[in-house]
Amino acid sequence: MNAVNLPDYRTQSPAVADRFARIKRRPVILDVRHLTKTFPTHTTLSDLSLQVHRREFVCVVGPSGCGKSTFIRIVAGLEALTGGEVLVDGRPVTGPGSDRGMVFQGYTLFPWLTVKRNVMFGLEVAGQPFSVAEAEARQWIELVGLGRFEDAYPHELSGGMKQRVAIARALAAKPRILLMDEPFGALDPTTRCRMQSYLLQIWRQVDITILFVTHDLDEAVLLSDRILVLGTNPSRILEVIENPVPRPRSVDRMLSPEFLATRHRIEELIHGPAESEPATLPNIRLTMAGDDVE
Ligand SMILES: Nc1ncnc2c1ncn2[C@@H]1O[C@H](COP(=O)(O)OP(=O)(O)O)[C@@H](O)[C@H]1O
Ligand SMILES: [Mg+2]
Repeated sequence: MNAVNLPDYRTQSPAVADRFARIKRRPVILDVRHLTKTFPTHTTLSDLSLQVHRREFVCVVGPSGCGKSTFIRIVAGLEALTGGEVLVDGRPVTGPGSDRGMVFQGYTLFPWLTVKRNVMFGLEVAGQPFSVAEAEARQWIELVGLGRFEDAYPHELSGGMKQRVAIARALAAKPRILLMDEPFGALDPTTRCRMQSYLLQIWRQVDITILFVTHDLDEAVLLSDRILVLGTNPSRILEVIENPVPRPRSVDRMLSPEFLATRHRIEELIHGPAESEPATLPNIRLTMAGDDVE
């Protein structure tokens, strides 16, 4: 029983249930099997398994330090695993590769290159002739709505625009999966909201699978098909939630009963039931005897 009588987050409308049935019939793009990551002092990820299907949008949430970034870095090939395996399109991940695009929180654009040259960069490295790379880059820049800024330098852009360029650059290399680690974490709430809508629009237009790490639960419920909820010590899967909120999504969905029920469930998994909060704090004196603070 909860205060506002929310529906069960596991209840799906026929349209949503049908959508999940269709997703599950699609090929698996990311296959994580019994992934374990042990650092010299402790195990961060323990026996984590997950399959992400083509064009699926999976968000990863969990308390700070539970291993979200470690997980996505292992999938990116930036960090080695200590147990299990990770496959992308059936091939084991052994290092970074063009089948995985990355967008992280920090702005990773080359400051000395224009927007267009930033987006062209990977295409040129892959050996495409300049004119082909330029034409391709322009399409991606248009897609993220920055056509007018193709000759601007990163320092001339706002934070949100920089992340749109980062998304265009990642997509231009035609990855099978886009890996995003708190990509909007440094943006102000209004820009963040706008970026979430942009990302959903882009995702609808492009054949791309997304693994998206966030600590913002509203963001996870707004964007995802499924939500991987991780716990700590060691990090383990608490639940993989099938998001019951219908698509298309917009910010006004955030007040719908399904949305609130899903958010409530994640809170409960991460923080435990609200009643467990202590009614009073233990009475510990933090001032030294003799301190004159009263
Ligand atoms: N290079 C490292 N050496 C030792 N421990 C690490 C290293 N990188 C991350 N960790 C540990 O792994 C855990 C998960 O970190 P991280 O993946 O950054 O969590 P999150 O992104 O969920 O906040 C933390 O306990 C952190 O201290
Ligand atoms: Mg992190």
